[in-house]
Amino acid sequence: MTESPVSQHTPDKSETPAPEGEASPQQRKQMEAAYQQMKRQMAMKKIAEEISHKIMVLSGKGGVGKSTVATGLALSLAEQGLKVGLLDIDITGPNVPKMMGLDGMRLHVEEGRIYPNIGHSGVKVISMAFLLEDEDTPVVWRGPIKLGAIQQFIADVEWGLLDHLIIDFPPGTSDEPLTVVQSLPDIDGIVIVTTPQDVALLDSRKSISFAKTLNVPVLGVVENMSGYTLRGKTEPNSRLELVGPGGKMIEVEADDGGDWSAVLDIFKRGGGEKTASDLKVPFLGALPFDPGVLRGGDDGVHRIIANPSGESAKAFAKVVEAISEQLSNEDESGVNII
Ligand SMILES: Nc1ncnc2c1ncn2[C@@H]1O[C@H](COP(=O)(O)OP(=O)(O)OP(=O)(O)O)[C@@H](O)[C@H]1O
Ligand SMILES: [Mg+2]
Repeated sequence: MTESPVSQHTPDKSETPAPEGEASPQQRKQMEAAYQQMKRQMAMKKIAEEISHKIMVLSGKGGVGKSTVATGLALSLAEQGLKVGLLDIDITGPNVPKMMGLDGMRLHVEEGRIYPNIGHSGVKVISMAFLLEDEDTPVVWRGPIKLGAIQQFIADVEWGLLDHLIIDFPPGTSDEPLTVVQSLPDIDGIVIVTTPQDVALLDSRKSISFAKTLNVPVLGVVENMSGYTLRGKTEPNSRLELVGPGGKMIEVEADDGGDWSAVLDIFKRGGGEKTASDLKVPFLGALPFDPGVLRGGDDGVHRIIANPSGESAKAFAKVVEAISEQLSNEDESGVNII
């Protein structure tokens, strides 16, 4: 970061009191801190103005697919020709770079400004992972340092003009979302990701009330890993009985060509929609359980890039459409939708 004029005139550290009319070293330190804070706030305001839409992706529970949804959302929007940034705030377990094919990349810093790495479909990516020396060593940052780093990642990044900035978080109702909301003005809203199990749904209820305390609109709930489609071939027009999860019998009918398919509700289904309706927030859609999503996370090629006409990509497209609709509702009404 560039030094402030105040710091350039800091005298030596002798304890001798400052001559009358001059600031003491302690006063200079305070002035320097205030100056840096003011500069950062101005930078954040400018960044907020240059980014049309800012969307936070949260979940109450870990491992439900936040990073997968955040990355997929960024890619889908970028594929529509929009300018998109993806900010990965997860300091302890950042995995967005892997999903964006940017594993092992470092940050590019020039004259105190941080430049994002460019991932698939031209998405600009900033991740704490770009700071890590070694991905196997966990980062243990004390609270204030971590929150300062987040502020710096918002204020000092050269995003340029963006249509959308998607922000991925660690799980839970921690300090990180609060810091982002306090630092970056005009957040459009929060997308809450859940899986259909009761425990995840309970946590997503907590996320919704957390959003209310943050005073940020909830754009809606996405149900991830919602049903797995099993396919097969048998005699044309014949009937089959399958044993589904929990021993439930599922009857399927093959078509004229003998093809059949059945949706297995691995973690139940429909809970996300019910939670959304109970808490009066929009339901944005369901994404199927797809082993290709898992492989994509490992290989660095997201499912919607690897198989753009597949079921997951289509489901993602619907979710993106629902989010865009919520954003345009907000743009029109200019009011919170909670
Ligand atoms: N629809 C899906 N089908 C199959 N696997 C999925 C799906 N969504 C996510 N996964 C896999 O589940 C794992 C967890 O997903 P992800 O990392 O996106 O979750 P997260 O909520 O960001 O986790 P964390 O809380 O640790 O940040 C990953 O291995 C991912 O590839
Ligand atoms: Mg994650």
